[in-house]
Amino acid sequence: MPRATQTTALQSKYARGSLLSVNHLSVAEVSAILSETARVAALSSAERTCILRGRTIALLFYESSTRTRTSFELAAKSLGATTTLVSDKSSSIEKGESLKDTGLTLRALGAESIILRHSASGAPFVLARETGLPVLNAGDGMHEHPSQALLDLRTILTRLHGANRAESVTEHSLAGITVTITGDIFHSRVARSNAMLLPRLGARVLLCGPPGLLPEEARDLGPGIEIERDFDRALAESQVVMMLRIQKERLAGMELDLSHYIQSYQLNSGRLTTAAPSAVVLHPGPMIRGLEISDEVADGRNSAIEEQVAHGFAVRSALLIRALGAGSFEGVTA
Ligand code: NCD
Repeated sequence: MPRATQTTALQSKYARGSLLSVNHLSVAEVSAILSETARVAALSSAERTCILRGRTIALLFYESSTRTRTSFELAAKSLGATTTLVSDKSSSIEKGESLKDTGLTLRALGAESIILRHSASGAPFVLARETGLPVLNAGDGMHEHPSQALLDLRTILTRLHGANRAESVTEHSLAGITVTITGDIFHSRVARSNAMLLPRLGARVLLCGPPGLLPEEARDLGPGIEIERDFDRALAESQVVMMLRIQKERLAGMELDLSHYIQSYQLNSGRLTTAAPSAVVLHPGPMIRGLEISDEVADGRNSAIEEQVAHGFAVRSALLIRALGAGSFEGVTA
């Protein structure tokens, strides 16, 4: 099936405005999200607060989160929506309530959209099916983190091309750009969503890490993805480098020689200055300083890590507006 038809068929099973996977978005839809992001970012707070006034959004978090949860929550509040947060601790989830029943409860209380983080890959698809509500995937297991890939895209476009050229995209917007993603690719939903999205906009993606954290099969995630195990070689070809944390909670007994890992894969100022002195440095957080990234790089001039957080607020505002069919998404039928 051609990708456009496939995208429509998959998306139509779920409420319009859902965001479950980057693969459900056409390039035109990515572009529409970026332009709504730019439009809303330029509004005054008085103008913003009218957009979702009187609407209700639930945040349902089964895994810990700092950036994703707070940016969705603050974005929803700044747009005038009422929000409620349910986490696996201190709710009936602790007593064994199912995802379906929790979702139906939130819907009965007036939630019009649910933002879900869950440790099981595919959980947002189940919630969207069972509730019929627009669901935003805020990270599902080792599967996807689509809003992170969109905010990374806005950060990359803004840093490389300027804010004006972050307002829309085509299949060629990242032509000639190599993005290296380094670290625990295997467990990373951030890596998967980025590796599937960025090549569709013309980027070349190099995945980098030791075999235990980066199996050869990662190449099959899609076209435009290559594996380069030598970090210095990958860096020398890159305009953007995204560093990832080793996800200790998902290692399941896997042994790693940390000092060897640091020697081969840490992004420190010596390595950056030698191999890619002007590369943009990204990290989705949480960072483990001194392990995958050094303090000087995390706080240095190449780092766009705090900008990512700010872009997260902006992009998630647009995603909430889209979920509720407001703003420039009002009446959109595709
Ligand atoms: C990531 C996540 O939860 O997938 N963080 C985030 O959302 N910004 C990455 C991680 O946990 O390492």
